[in-house]
Amino acid sequence: MPILPILTFPDPVLSRPCRQVREVTDELRRLAADMTETMYQAPGIGLAAPQVGHDLRLVVVDLSPREEGREPVALVNPRIVEAEGSLIFEEGCLSVPEFTCDVSRFSRVKVEATDLEGRPMTVEGEGVLAVCLQHELDHLEGRLFLDRISPLKRALYKKRRLKQAKQDKQDKP
Ligand code: NI
Repeated sequence: MPILPILTFPDPVLSRPCRQVREVTDELRRLAADMTETMYQAPGIGLAAPQVGHDLRLVVVDLSPREEGREPVALVNPRIVEAEGSLIFEEGCLSVPEFTCDVSRFSRVKVEATDLEGRPMTVEGEGVLAVCLQHELDHLEGRLFLDRISPLKRALYKKRRLKQAKQDKQDKP
């Protein structure tokens, strides 16, 4: 299965709200499978469709991507229906290279979605799973964890990225 290129900040696809999936098709299942492979390869514990250039409400998550007995879960049109508590977790993102930062999130969430057979499903998560679900669902709204940190920290990261992009351009023959 092909590994898909992961878009990075400030790619505009990452900051646009995604479209609702109208129908679960073979094409969507293939995209979910490719996204799962891409997530394992990275490695990461979650990946959202916009990160690979598709503005669709589809995410994949697996909290044990490096272990035997992987259990990937694909969520189509996911939405948070319950949320409570709060926790602070140091987040990173495959689309935000070389940066992590503490982010405040709900400590427990319940998410309703559709599975890859088109059936309704529910996922409840606490701790890391709750963080992962909120982070991935944010992607579907065009929101990165950078949008949830202090403006000063965000500005510093943006400055660093722009400098890096300039440098990369200069280094190209
Ligand atoms: Ni992310």
